Amino acid sequence: MCPFWRRSSKDLSTQKEKEILRQLYNSGVCAIGFEGGEPLLRKDLPEILAYSSSLPLHTSIITNGTLLKSRIDEIAPYISGIVFVSLDGMQKTHDLVRGVDGCFKRAVEGITAAKDKVSITINMTVMAENFHDIEDVVKLAKDLDVKIVLSVAHEYRSTDATAPETDELKKVAQQLILLKRKGYPIMNTTSYLKVIAKERNWNCKPWSVVNVGTDGRLVLPCYVHNQYETGVSVFENSIKAASSAFDWEAMRGCVKCNLHCYVEPSLVLSWDLHSWADWIFPTGK
Ligand SMILES: C[S@@+](CC[C@H](N)C(=O)[O-])C[C@H]1O[C@@H](n2cnc3c(N)ncnc32)[C@H](O)[C@@H]1O
Ligand code: SF4
Repeated sequence: MCPFWRRSSKDLSTQKEKEILRQLYNSGVCAIGFEGGEPLLRKDLPEILAYSSSLPLHTSIITNGTLLKSRIDEIAPYISGIVFVSLDGMQKTHDLVRGVDGCFKRAVEGITAAKDKVSITINMTVMAENFHDIEDVVKLAKDLDVKIVLSVAHEYRSTDATAPETDELKKVAQQLILLKRKGYPIMNTTSYLKVIAKERNWNCKPWSVVNVGTDGRLVLPCYVHNQYETGVSVFENSIKAASSAFDWEAMRGCVKCNLHCYVEPSLVLSWDLHSWADWIFPTGK
């Protein structure tokens, strides 16, 4: 279901990673999520996270959790944000979707080992293949005493993930709003859940998120339009200059995806009062 690991690029050196982080910080970025690929595969991850936190950037990672148990002590001091652990269903579904037997068990073991050392949030990507597991994964988050955030899968050209039908999504969104009201630890704003239920409009502000690919190329304007095919190298042009020169006006009115990493900041930047209230009172009460 995931397009990102299919890219064939070599990892950048530690020094080049730091150069990008410095540029991001100088461009006004305040929070960062390292995803990859799989961030915990990098041996120099603690050094990169330490540099990021020291700038200071609010520093998070998004991981499949497989190596979390064995590496949490190395990285915990430098996580000033959140460790997001991907769970795309309960055991059978997650292992099937991810194509690796036993990866659910290892992710849950990772969460259990790490949850008293860092702030953990489960990240569930909702697709036709895991609809039936959504409520169970939300309940699992509560049982594990961690938070959960859900996003809707996008059908990238290079993947087999099936984005859910509108009617199905509407039902799921309504169910999630109810669970959130009951106090389940769902961190999406109710406004986002209403966007995916097609109960409210939104205006994408793709410039609010800066994506840098593993080869140091800017993913402009966003994951979905770029599909990781082209991009300006941040070592040849500054991030600030490349982003400022981009024709953002051409993106006005685009609502092609429902990815929470774009919808949520766009709602907050629209001064959506419900969205702000949700950040402050996350249970939605
Ligand atoms: C690209 S992965 C990289 C980090 C790490 N290796 C992992 O598995 O979480 C980051 C997030 O993107 C999500 N993702 C993968 N394929 C997606 C798709 N087709 N649409 C939306 N999100 C997707 C994953 O579920 C994961 O939570
Ligand atoms: S709605 Fe999605 S595809 Fe359209 S500009 Fe925003 S992030 Fe990109």
